[in-house]
Amino acid sequence: MAEHYGIQTAAGHLTVAAESKEPYAADVLAALHEDAAQVVAKYPQKRSALLPLLHLVQSVDGYVTGRGIDFCADVLDLTTAEVSGVATFYTQYKRHPNGEYTVGICTNTLCAIMGGDQIWDEVSEHLGIGHDETTPDGKVTLERVECNAACDFAPVVMANWEFFDNQTPESTKQLVDDLRAGKDVRPSRGPAKVCTFKQVSRVLAGFHDGLADEGVGAGPASLEGLRLAHERGWTAPDGTAGETATHDQQPEATSDQTAAGRHTSTDSGANAPDEAVDDKPATLFDEKNGKADS
Ligand code: FES
Repeated sequence: MAEHYGIQTAAGHLTVAAESKEPYAADVLAALHEDAAQVVAKYPQKRSALLPLLHLVQSVDGYVTGRGIDFCADVLDLTTAEVSGVATFYTQYKRHPNGEYTVGICTNTLCAIMGGDQIWDEVSEHLGIGHDETTPDGKVTLERVECNAACDFAPVVMANWEFFDNQTPESTKQLVDDLRAGKDVRPSRGPAKVCTFKQVSRVLAGFHDGLADEGVGAGPASLEGLRLAHERGWTAPDGTAGETATHDQQPEATSDQTAAGRHTSTDSGANAPDEAVDDKPATLFDEKNGKADS
């Protein structure tokens, strides 16, 4: 299949190249069907398996090809228009050949003012490519990212969704140079090295590589609140609205807040802290001084 690294334009991103419709080789198709059956079996309705199946297609083709869309539609009893509608909605799905490494530079507000805009300008010039474009060697696709969800380490860059914290233009240029040179690159957190786009896509399809718990998950900046809570003896609310709160110390609850000031959308067991601070009943207040912590 012909690949067109480096010549994509924003205007052409939704155009699926004719060659991407070429049929899969028989053995590749058989393996895809075998994997797809495992994915589909996880869901009560098979159409729910579309997102992981699109990742599966990317793990084989490197992007969502026309034949990949046909495959998903066939396996899930969907129309190709329905599959395309999903594949073009989410930015993790690529509709043209993607690089071996997607490098996303956060240029959202916090990262931008902490240096993200400067990183973007310098790395884009260094590589000679813009947003969603790929280096001619097919190694790096560059993206502006709206938020890498790691603002406490701004400015943040990611490579195939692994974090590189507290970056500078120099460190990011070194990162892309190392990726292009085929060197193993270690992210700030997580596994020991960045996997390829196809490898990561297979994980996103639901086939674990055993690396999910490798390396540290949260760095010191993310744990700063927990450290302060330990230091000051703060604990979490016990979930009983009104029992521990002194209402005259609380702002008036809005319609979607509890009397203790918690938002109902976060008041669930799923949001319970991973770490129990101690065995005391949880409270929002400084028990020693009897005051609400602000
Ligand atoms: S603003 Fe950059 S990670 Fe959130």
